[in-house]
Amino acid sequence: MAVSTPRDRPIGVFDSGVGGLTVLHELLVQLPQEDFVYLADTARFPYGERSADELQRFSLEIAEELLRRQVKLLVVACNSATAAALPVLQERMMQTTLGVDVIGVVRPGAVHAVAATRNGRVGLMATTATVDSGAYAEAIAAADPHVDLVQVPCPDLTEIIEGGFPFDQRVVDTVRRYCAPLREAGVDTVVLGCTHYPLVRPMLQRMLGPGVTIIASGAPLARQVAHVLGSRSLASTRSDTGEGDYSFLCTGDPEPFRAMGTRFLQMPLGGVTQVDVTQSLTNGSPLR
Ligand code: DGL
Repeated sequence: MAVSTPRDRPIGVFDSGVGGLTVLHELLVQLPQEDFVYLADTARFPYGERSADELQRFSLEIAEELLRRQVKLLVVACNSATAAALPVLQERMMQTTLGVDVIGVVRPGAVHAVAATRNGRVGLMATTATVDSGAYAEAIAAADPHVDLVQVPCPDLTEIIEGGFPFDQRVVDTVRRYCAPLREAGVDTVVLGCTHYPLVRPMLQRMLGPGVTIIASGAPLARQVAHVLGSRSLASTRSDTGEGDYSFLCTGDPEPFRAMGTRFLQMPLGGVTQVDVTQSLTNGSPLR
């Protein structure tokens, strides 16, 4: 793709695996004129039990790879990486000539949950890394200090989801176990603090009960991306009817990602290119 002006550049999106496709899906629906490049760090999946230091290093390596592909905006479609690395990523990306903005998933979901709750009790399901970071507690307290947050770490849920279809009894039992404390606490709103979890949303809604509002970050994040593109004059110049392209990179074996991703994105994936991002910070390609 010949890249001319910043407006014509793609938006970079990344996650540890297929979970971020729930965010990409919203972006493709809400911003059809834009081009996207999605990177799945499947070689180092899962992120949910990793340390903040590791997640910062991985995120910076991926950011470098995506900058090499001339992205105009970076979307961190992973809560674990957002919670650990958002400020570091923002600082590094602002050093580039273009000054690339970085949007993460924690804040849009937290703000949306505070607006949605009626009884002031919000639940959070997330990876251990995200719960331990305190990122949601901070974001929700900043939006409304009087909202109670009940946090449930779900250590094995991402791996079970990434294991793919068919979802069997083990998935049902695991999801039920993590929903139990939230039912007991009487929350009326639950934030899915991991981008993999919307992939089991029907199961979650059934087990949490029909009166509980489930918040996934994809839709509010896509709105935030639209606002950033507008305010920074970065929106694509394609006509209203023109559709952008999207492409995929992954650090592990492309085939399982392509097969599972096609099911989860509910759109064709096309080719997936394998990349090694581990050298990106040391191979003499400075941040542009
Ligand atoms: N989907 C990611 C998140 O939102 C990563 C989960 C994982 O790799 O454990 O946290």
